[in-house]
Amino acid sequence: MAAAANVENWTMLSPDLKSDLDLSTEELLRLLDLAGDVKRNPLRYTSALRNRYLTLLFEKPSLRTRMTFEVAIQQLGGGSILNIGPIGDREPLKDIARNVERWTQGIVARVYSQQTIEDLAKWASVPVINALSDLYHPCQALADFQTIRERLGDFRGLRLAFAGDGNNVAHSLMLDAARLGAHFTIACPKGYEPDAAIVAQSRAFAAETGATVTVTNDPIEGVRGANAVYTDVWASMGQEHEADKRREIFMPYQVNETLMEAAGPDALFMHCLPAKRGLEVTDGVIETPHSVVFDQAENRLHAQKALLLMLLS
Ligand code: CP
Ligand code: NVA
Repeated sequence: MAAAANVENWTMLSPDLKSDLDLSTEELLRLLDLAGDVKRNPLRYTSALRNRYLTLLFEKPSLRTRMTFEVAIQQLGGGSILNIGPIGDREPLKDIARNVERWTQGIVARVYSQQTIEDLAKWASVPVINALSDLYHPCQALADFQTIRERLGDFRGLRLAFAGDGNNVAHSLMLDAARLGAHFTIACPKGYEPDAAIVAQSRAFAAETGATVTVTNDPIEGVRGANAVYTDVWASMGQEHEADKRREIFMPYQVNETLMEAAGPDALFMHCLPAKRGLEVTDGVIETPHSVVFDQAENRLHAQKALLLMLLS
């Protein structure tokens, strides 16, 4: 029989994960350690969240996030998910928050506007987890840094390059890279740069850790010498009507064999998925042994188990 896990030092100062910033750097590192242990020793945690239930409030589609939260809570001994889907206009969000907190111990929300996450956290007394908003995708970044650590070891001095849209996934990666001491460069077309306030916040973190945060419009220079090259869809959920226009603008930023060559022969390829082959990445690149996209997907499970342990224990 596996030894019971020690719950000391698990809990987070913030009651929610509204964005990456709700985890201090120290908590982020602790979460990554816990995620590693959860992955190596899953049986230690099988009753850690007994009788805990989650509400899933998803305004947008999902494969990985929904499935990994469902499997995570069940493997931690909790109940299954109560899935309410898009909320529509039947009742105000503040009433929904004060209903579901009476029945479940946490809310996992995938929304259009970050404000919806903030409002949920304001009204609900149970933890609210951002499962993707227009500004952040913190759960994805947790799994990504778990994957980077497994493959490349210590974060300090690593070079992480992102080619494509300055979007939610890029924002969360940039914030966490800077805090962990990894250099972060984003190469994006003019007008598609990341949010200026999030760049400024990331640079403030980088000043403390010795990392750098670079925004460029040159894709080849952006990825040169990178240890890992990351990309994401050019049109995020909710931007589908811009997909044709974006396809032309973003084509020079496609992660193809030429771009990977500029990074170097050992560079990893990363993508949060779902991927559009032939657009932001070629089939050749995503199918090479340097592609870690399915490790990232697997680690969503382990990293979110660690997050649930820290928020709901
Ligand atoms: N990467 C990610 O969040 O995948 P889903 O949209 O399928 O949840
Ligand atoms: N940027 C993408 C990520 C999907 C996981 C989106 O928001 O649709």
